Amino acid sequence: MITRTPSYDLSSRNTFRMKVKCALYVEVTAEADLQALDWDSLPQPVFVMGGGSNLLFTKDFPGTVLHVGITSLCPAPTGHLLVTCGAGVVFDDFCAWAASQNLWGPENLSLIPGECGASAVQNIGAYGVEAKDILAGIRAWDMKERRFVDIDPADCEYGYRTSRFKTQWKGRYVITSVTYRLSKEPKPILDYGGVRKALSCHSELVEESLTPQIIRDTIIGIRRKKLPDPEEIGSAGSFFCNPVISREHFEKIVKTAKEDNGADYEVPHYVVGNQIKVPAAWMIEQCGFKGATNGGAQVYQNQPLVIVNATGNATPEEITGLEQKVIDTIAAKYGITLHPEVEHI
Ligand code: EPU
Repeated sequence: MITRTPSYDLSSRNTFRMKVKCALYVEVTAEADLQALDWDSLPQPVFVMGGGSNLLFTKDFPGTVLHVGITSLCPAPTGHLLVTCGAGVVFDDFCAWAASQNLWGPENLSLIPGECGASAVQNIGAYGVEAKDILAGIRAWDMKERRFVDIDPADCEYGYRTSRFKTQWKGRYVITSVTYRLSKEPKPILDYGGVRKALSCHSELVEESLTPQIIRDTIIGIRRKKLPDPEEIGSAGSFFCNPVISREHFEKIVKTAKEDNGADYEVPHYVVGNQIKVPAAWMIEQCGFKGATNGGAQVYQNQPLVIVNATGNATPEEITGLEQKVIDTIAAKYGITLHPEVEHI
């Protein structure tokens, strides 16, 4: 079914709850709808939206916002190890299903907001796992050639929260379904972001007895403590990417941090090849931004990598004003330009 709504209020469709409109909102619920759609009649540009959980609409959108509401979850008939999810399946519903079947793969990605279609664009990731690790196939409508294509994830140039869908292929494909590969073999990934420590609170301490459900529940517990509940406070998750810098640059940061916090202070960091990833949250905290506000926009107290719509009435200008202040302050103090992870429209 194709539903067209002109002058559509997008506030219920973006997790930041920005009150903006698009010229036309189109919802399709089946693959065939994309073939049937009168593409030449759509206000331009066409923007394909998933769950609206990684977007900041900075103003009214002059074109068409298209949402693929295909919500089927189909395990392959030969067994449950290949599962095809419609682009509109809520990603965490897929994670919950996999855990309920005792299948491994997406458990560390539990509670990431958004839909399956976007998981393949964005290469969503958390706690040492990324979507690319479980992607087996992508089906999409090619808006240029006006036909369906099957895309091999190996051709998508996946990187940290990025893929060809965000670069060369931007604006070209409408993802209709995503196939994930799951495993019956236990594959617990525990050495990241306090997962092992949180698990040790469980009675099921023995690694062999872990199940995807236990890990899912643990991850959900960690995320609930740190991240705002999307039902209560609008946000788009992590607002900035974590920067990767040279070792020399990192040494300068360590020097500044020791001047600020004492000689024994240790800067949190992760080694990435011969470079260093420094948590943006740490820099934002060091610059005193925890809880800082700009009108209705606020740097979230429990996880300063997240900017929230604290009052529910924050405007795009208030969010981007706070964003700029954070970027400028960190550039001045550490010589690092933070880049937003959230896509600005
Ligand atoms: N930290 C501080 N102060 C704080 C908070 C954090 O210094 O107030 C430091 C800590 O040292 C902590 C480190 O920052 O160990 C990193 O924090 P965390 O492990 O919470 O992860 P993150 O880098 O903030 C990333 C992803 C999240 C993902 C988590 C867990 C990005 C931009 N964000 O956050 O993804 O859930 O790791 O794997 O890479 C998202 O994409 O929206 C998202 C939430």
